[in-house]
Amino acid sequence: MEYKLLDGKATAAQMKQEMAEEVARIKAEGGKVPHLAAILVGHDGGSETYVASKVKTCGEIGFKSTLIRYEADVTEEELLRKVDELNNDPDIDGFIVQLPLPKHISEQKVIEAIDYRKDVDGFHPINVGRMSIGLPCFVSATPAGILELLKRYHIETQGKHCVVLGRSNIVGKPMASLMMQKAYPGDCTVTVCHSRSKNLKEMCLQADIIIVALGVPEFLKGDMVKEGVVVVDVGTTRVPDPTRKSGFRLCGDVKFDEVAPKCSYISPVPGGVGPMTIISLMRNTLLAGKKEIY
Ligand code: GUN
Repeated sequence: MEYKLLDGKATAAQMKQEMAEEVARIKAEGGKVPHLAAILVGHDGGSETYVASKVKTCGEIGFKSTLIRYEADVTEEELLRKVDELNNDPDIDGFIVQLPLPKHISEQKVIEAIDYRKDVDGFHPINVGRMSIGLPCFVSATPAGILELLKRYHIETQGKHCVVLGRSNIVGKPMASLMMQKAYPGDCTVTVCHSRSKNLKEMCLQADIIIVALGVPEFLKGDMVKEGVVVVDVGTTRVPDPTRKSGFRLCGDVKFDEVAPKCSYISPVPGGVGPMTIISLMRNTLLAGKKEIY
């Protein structure tokens, strides 16, 4: 089958342009430019890259951004104080605390301390709960980005069997919930498989749409998918690659060379879900700035 790429890089670039135009309009009308703050704790390589990319994209769109850094030994108390300060700062429209956090800090406690009205990551239980019953909320960036990608490529979803591989709070669970919601994209019959699933291959072979978010490089093989399937690869494992300047390359959860020829549509890694995730955080920031949700 001749497959088409779900080009996240191009789609995100287009969304960036649309948002930049909107911010320019807000500015011209004398309105307040959206302001995103990001808290980064420690020096995890992946987190450094992601946060730098978020800050850079803010600038490109015309948002204000503030990066707040702490060393890895910052106390939970100090971090919670900063969260409280950002909650109460009227200039900050939304903020994120980059995960993972060091072991001595409770991620759950920190997430729950964020004012859900500024929780542009969509991780607060109020946002997660509202999403699951179809109320206006901040939807976390990766699932929101995947929905937007499916939408912009006019992927048919109604009545389709969507298999979600992975049950993380950040991707698998919200993705499954969104794909079954009474909306477009959605209206799917959803199956969630994970590391303990026994009949995973049989499930995948029945799927019209597969969303893979396991974090296991090249997990999905050619003999696990049917002809014409739509595959979305959420995997971004950093594997060592001495030929690269950075010393690593990003590896998806899909064995692309085997799977792609059987697909109608497939998202690549890199250039698929990754850029859509960052741009969706920007979209949430814009919504927060315009007070469109809360
Ligand atoms: N770590 C990995 N993905 C994310 C994300 O989307 N937001 C935050 N805050 N941390 C992450």
